[in-house]
Amino acid sequence: MKFCREYLARRRSDGLYRAVVETKALDAVRVLRQGRECLLLCGNDYLGLTQHPALAQKAQLAAQEEGVGAGGSRLISGSHPLCQALEHDLAAWKGTEAALVFSSGYAANVGTISALVGAGDAVFSDRLNHASIIDGCRLSGAAVSVYEHLDLADLARKLAARKNVRRRLIVTDGVFSMDGDVAPLDKLAALAKAHDAMLMVDDAHALGTLGEGRGTAHHFGVGKEVTIQLGTMSKSLAGMGGYVAASREVIEYLVNCSRSFIFSTAPSPMTLAAAREALTVLRREPQHLTKLQANGQYLRQTLRAAGLPIPEGETPILPLLLGSATAASEMSKRLESASILVSAIRPPTVPRGESRLRLTVSAAHSRTQLDYAANEIIRCWRALQ
Ligand SMILES: Cc1ncc(COP(=O)(O)O)c(C=O)c1O
Repeated sequence: MKFCREYLARRRSDGLYRAVVETKALDAVRVLRQGRECLLLCGNDYLGLTQHPALAQKAQLAAQEEGVGAGGSRLISGSHPLCQALEHDLAAWKGTEAALVFSSGYAANVGTISALVGAGDAVFSDRLNHASIIDGCRLSGAAVSVYEHLDLADLARKLAARKNVRRRLIVTDGVFSMDGDVAPLDKLAALAKAHDAMLMVDDAHALGTLGEGRGTAHHFGVGKEVTIQLGTMSKSLAGMGGYVAASREVIEYLVNCSRSFIFSTAPSPMTLAAAREALTVLRREPQHLTKLQANGQYLRQTLRAAGLPIPEGETPILPLLLGSATAASEMSKRLESASILVSAIRPPTVPRGESRLRLTVSAAHSRTQLDYAANEIIRCWRALQ
């Protein structure tokens, strides 16, 4: 079709064309891509649990004993006991009264925001929030105020400017997915209280990595002041599916009016069993988080010492800002020639002019692998200056 052809031609000429490339996992950080073994430095398997034998064993057992799929939505065909068990474990880990599982983190954001606010309400969203938050805000029909990234004064101004609304919701990433910086949840909680607003945090990248693995609210000690702690099982928990942890009342409300929960098939027994085991591993084997933090600091300091523009930080996400989409693509291509996989992050994922390589470390990376990656990244970056 003509409009598709024209769109794709434009994407190519703007350096923004995307393609799906077959990539087979060899272990948590090594992949086989187009016949070549590459080191993965852009995944979200922060704790390296995708290959943990205990998770595979639980998933396999659940598939054998319970079947490979849920077979229906929870409100129509009933809720699998593993769903409730996982929700119980998630609530315990997050320190909330209850939790609710969704089919993905994307579905959790879209279905939660659009349930909490609607026409006549206002939602206040950080400029760098994840696309699923942005889509949830749009879908909700509430008035959307986008505040500058981590700018509390701008947020306070925007809250004060929208007084005559029914409900107000402040929503933020906990750890920002493309920048790796952390939302000051204690200060956001104080602002929410002062302006009688609900506060929601998306801990997709904070679960397993921050606050002893329990997330941003735990890190700042403000669990009781956060209305919604949302997250995903697709990153540190190494599987798939989203969740919301909140008060019993909020969870009951979402069960009754979150459309992405109501009108979607429940996660499979395999997914649920693997996620439960991942939480057990988080509790039982703190060495993965310790190693993740050490690896993150090591790569960050090595690259910063060589002069690369990577900000200080405490998370496993290291943004290497390159500016143009073509510069980011070129650097990514050069690294792939050196058997290192780091995808270029370009608009619309990040704002125009802020294209970058998003380097992520995992607990599964060895020092030798990180040293090799650091040398190649420094070499390619210098060659492009
Ligand atoms: C901040 C954030 N929220 C939500 C999501 C969506 O989670 P999922 O991959 O489970 O749909 C992601 C994942 O890309 C994310 O980075």
